[in-house]
Amino acid sequence: MTSTIIDFENVTKEYPDGTVAIEDISFSVEEGTTTVFVGPSGCGKTTTMKLVNRLEELTSGKIYYDGQEIRSLDKIDLRRNIGYVIQEIGLFDHMTVAENVGMVPTLLEWDRARIDDRVDELLDLMDLPAETYRDQHPMELSGGQRQRVGVARALAADPDVMLMDEPFGALDPITREKLQDEFLEIQAQIDKTILFVTHDIDEALKMGDKIAIYRNGQIVQYDTPKEILTNPANDFVREFIGSDRLIKELKFMTAGDVMDETADVTGKTLSELGAAGVEFARNGQGYLTVERSETTHVALMKIYEGHVEGVLVTEGEEVVGTVTEADLKRNLSEGR
Ligand SMILES: Nc1ncnc2c1ncn2[C@@H]1O[C@H](COP(=O)(O)OP(=O)(O)OP(=O)(O)O)[C@@H](O)[C@H]1O
Ligand SMILES: [Mg+2]
Repeated sequence: MTSTIIDFENVTKEYPDGTVAIEDISFSVEEGTTTVFVGPSGCGKTTTMKLVNRLEELTSGKIYYDGQEIRSLDKIDLRRNIGYVIQEIGLFDHMTVAENVGMVPTLLEWDRARIDDRVDELLDLMDLPAETYRDQHPMELSGGQRQRVGVARALAADPDVMLMDEPFGALDPITREKLQDEFLEIQAQIDKTILFVTHDIDEALKMGDKIAIYRNGQIVQYDTPKEILTNPANDFVREFIGSDRLIKELKFMTAGDVMDETADVTGKTLSELGAAGVEFARNGQGYLTVERSETTHVALMKIYEGHVEGVLVTEGEEVVGTVTEADLKRNLSEGR
């Protein structure tokens, strides 16, 4: 059973100078999921993060944390449960990596040995071996390493919720992808609730269980990546996703979603079909077998790009269906 951990109800934030940063925003976040906030610069993403841990106070509406209105909670207690990776990393240059990571536990007055253990554990988790990095200073690290230290610091006191404001921003694409992959692996182990800000739609699609697309202080669509790709709410979302929407869409499709179960070969085993040498009856150009449950991006992509005309979808030895380009088109949003 999932349960809601953060709930925004008609939240508006107007800064003292009259800037309305977010207006009448509502959404809820399920425990243990990653929600990505994406949108152009200045649309209110960072403001949303700051409202959650009360670095800023809302102007109207309500925010609930675990069922309680956050204004009724003690700020310090609230922040103890919420780790924050700020947009500019914000490491302290005069402190070592270990001191940076151990900052919150130190404030919480954990004993020394417990802090040291926790710091070493997190540095190792972030692929920054403690014996090498704990005594270095942030200036001695690369941008990607600094961002990892920022993430380790936010995780230090084992918060239930992580606010991550462009944690991989300002990185070259390769380092960025590497950190994204590592973070997905780590998330699978630690299972936190994550609110993640980016202005990169590809990062959003990759990292998010849910995505909130912002425009001028409002959420124009709040949905799963797959829904956003297949049913963009309006032209703004469509443009924001970009022209390679169909390719992105394929990443969220499995052969099971789109296969034709009525083809002649259905129900036959691969060996009945002549093992490795068999040609997929309908195309004569070769075939691929794909387990129904697997992510079939590569196979679907090949069809889409015209490298093969179809794939056999198998469960173990048995063919359970086929996918051709026509099957694919029927299921892509372009075809509808
Ligand atoms: N302290 C502040 N006082 C007045 N206006 C502010 C303040 N902080 C942010 N704003 C304004 O509120 C709006 C939203 O800002 P916010 O930082 O939330 O945007 P963002 O989506 O995080 O942008 P970016 O992608 O550039 O980080 C902007 O117009 C910004 O200028
Ligand atoms: Mg921001």
